[in-house]
Amino acid sequence: MMPKIYITRKIPVPIIKHLEKSCDVSVWEHEDTPVPRDVLEEKMGEIDGLFCLLTETIDEEILSKATKLKVISNMAVGYNNIDIEAASKKGIMVTNTPGVLTETTADLTFALLMTTARRITEASAFLRAGQWQTWSPMQLTGQDIYQSTIGIIGLGRIGEALARRAKGFNMNILYHSRNRKLQAEEELGLHFASLEDLLRKSDFVCIMTPYTTDTHNMIRKEHFQLMKDSAILINTARGGIVNENDLYQALSLGQIWAAGLDVFEQEPVSLDHPLLTLPNVVTLPHIGSASIVTRMKMAEVASDNLLRVLNGEIPRHVVNV
Ligand code: GLV
Ligand code: GLV
Repeated sequence: MMPKIYITRKIPVPIIKHLEKSCDVSVWEHEDTPVPRDVLEEKMGEIDGLFCLLTETIDEEILSKATKLKVISNMAVGYNNIDIEAASKKGIMVTNTPGVLTETTADLTFALLMTTARRITEASAFLRAGQWQTWSPMQLTGQDIYQSTIGIIGLGRIGEALARRAKGFNMNILYHSRNRKLQAEEELGLHFASLEDLLRKSDFVCIMTPYTTDTHNMIRKEHFQLMKDSAILINTARGGIVNENDLYQALSLGQIWAAGLDVFEQEPVSLDHPLLTLPNVVTLPHIGSASIVTRMKMAEVASDNLLRVLNGEIPRHVVNV
C-alpha cells in the first residue's frame, strides 16, 4: 500500500505529480487560504507524511492526533511553527529547506534595506498622489548606504549572504552571533561585536537569526535606546524576534529613523496594526524567498525530504536528530 500524505496548500503541479507516483496524495486545494485546523486535525490520524508551510501551527495538541505520522516536511528554512520537541517525542522526523533560498532571501533583505533607506515606496506614492511639484533640495531625502555600517544579528547562511552584498557597497560590517565565524571574518572582513556594541554603532541593524524561545523579543525597548537616531531596523527573519510595541514607540519617538519589515508577529498583519500607520515603516508580506525559481526549488527539496523518510532513507535536511 502506498503511504498517505497530505499537502497543506496548492503547490506546483509537477511536484504533486511526482509525489503521486509513490504516494497516496491529498491536497488542501487552495492557493491563498491556509488549511483550517479541524481539517488538518482530521487528516493527522490518517497520514504517514505531512507536507506543510510556515502558516501551519503544528503543536503538541495537533500532533497528539497523529497515529502513524513519520515525517513533517516544512517548505521553509524556519520551523518555529512546529513543536520540535513534541514531534521528537513521537519519533516524527521534521525536515526543512535550507540552502536553496539563501541568496534570494539575502537579495530581498538588501532590497528592503535600500528601499527603506532611500524612501522608495514613499517616493513612489508621493509621485502618484500628485504631490511632485518640483525638484527640491531636501525633498524625500534618506540615508546613505554606501560606506555606512551594517550590523547583522545572526550570521547563518542568509546573514553571510547579506554580508557579501554589504561588502559590495563598501560597508563596514559588524555581526553578532552565538559563535564567532572566523572564516567569514577573514574572507569578508567582518567584525564580531557584542549585541550592545553592534546596536550602538550600526546604521542598519538586520535581524537574521532563527526564531526560538531564546530569540523571542530579543530586540526590545532597551535595545532601541542604544541605537542611533538615524538607524534603520530591517527584519526579514521572524516578527516575534522584535517587540513590535517597543519598535512602534522607538519609531514614534524618533529614537530610530525607520524600519523595513518583511515579517510580523501575527501574519497576515492586521491592517490596523500601529506600525502600519507610520510613514517611515516599509512593510512587505513575508516575501523573502519569493522568486519563482527559489519557490520551485523549496517545493522540490521539501518533496525530496518527505519521500526519503517514507522510503526509509536519510533526508537531506533533518531538524530533529
Ligand atoms: C521563510 O520565512 C522561511 O523560513 O523559509
Ligand atoms: C540631480 O538629478 C542632479 O543632477 O544633481
